[in-house]
Amino acid sequence: MNSAPSAAGVLVAPIAAALNPSCAGGDHAGVLLEHTVLRWLAELVGFPHRPGGGLLTSGASMATVVALAAARQHAVGRDGADVREEGLYGRPPMVLYVSAEGHSCLRKAAELLGLGSRHVRVVPVDGGFRMDVDALRALVTRDVRAGLRPFCVAASAGTVNTGAVDALDEIADVVAAHGLWFHVDGAYGALGALASGAASAGYAGMVRADSLVLDPHKWLGVPVGCGCVLWRDPALARATFSLIPAYLCDDHEDGLGWFSEYGPEQTRPFRALRTWATMSHLGRDGIIRLVGTTVRLAHTLAAMIEAAPDFELLAPVSTSIVAFRFHPVDRTTGWTTSTAGSPRSSSTAGAPS
Ligand SMILES: Cc1ncc(COP(=O)(O)O)c(C=O)c1O
Repeated sequence: MNSAPSAAGVLVAPIAAALNPSCAGGDHAGVLLEHTVLRWLAELVGFPHRPGGGLLTSGASMATVVALAAARQHAVGRDGADVREEGLYGRPPMVLYVSAEGHSCLRKAAELLGLGSRHVRVVPVDGGFRMDVDALRALVTRDVRAGLRPFCVAASAGTVNTGAVDALDEIADVVAAHGLWFHVDGAYGALGALASGAASAGYAGMVRADSLVLDPHKWLGVPVGCGCVLWRDPALARATFSLIPAYLCDDHEDGLGWFSEYGPEQTRPFRALRTWATMSHLGRDGIIRLVGTTVRLAHTLAAMIEAAPDFELLAPVSTSIVAFRFHPVDRTTGWTTSTAGSPRSSSTAGAPS
């Protein structure tokens, strides 16, 4: 999850510190490089990119707040109101759907945005720890009937427990049928789309997201402190956050505005340099190799665990995460020491402990 830092990222860190720009906006290397890096990240995973279509953040937790704020703004706007002006007063509760394996930052964001954790629906998962799409459908239908306002489904492209990638394409269909916002948490796993063969198959619907979170400081190995959110429609994000007092007016702005209009931060550090250096050094082929190698290693480890009598694989391997446990066999009986006292199943059973 938290990779070793890339050498290139470490080497340029002092330069970013010495230059010490604020990347709120303006016409300087920090800002230009951030635009470049955002386009590169989107292109890397095949996400549609328009200028202004992303923001570097401190990490995925902040990126999630920014993404869900835009989703909330959009949904309330479609109902003919403005959440920035009116807040959520007097509205039906807005409901967010996450899987039981979704990251806690989703619930934190919902709480922070005034949605209330009571209105975060936890959708059960299937045997592969992926969101149960039928259950999602049923929950949305039930909430609509109850007069609530479903507004966003947050799917996972690589969960923290098992690396599971939800059925993104199928979920996108449900989202489209109900006119919801499709958020994908690819903080750790979005880069898995670069793996070859079956490993990347589950990512097909990722390009349909309205917002995608993808952390350079995870699989890519950028030194910690660099998350990212990408949007399909940058104008929506700008409409969510833009606030320009007289002392921040830029008569020469380029039409995209400042990064500080796309998120809550005003003074922003030079996050792009470490990401730019890491990506430049590896190149696209190098990043594909990095992903391929780690996915291959995960499968090798999984095979070793399956062959070892005292270890148990707890989930299918779909990215670079292997969930397993030590589960010793009683040599006298040949049975495991599980509390149920039953022989161990040979494959993937049960939730990770
Ligand atoms: C899938 C997923 N989403 C979100 C996060 C939160 O990311 P951050 O710690 O960068 O805020 C993590 C962190 O491990 C994660 O694995």
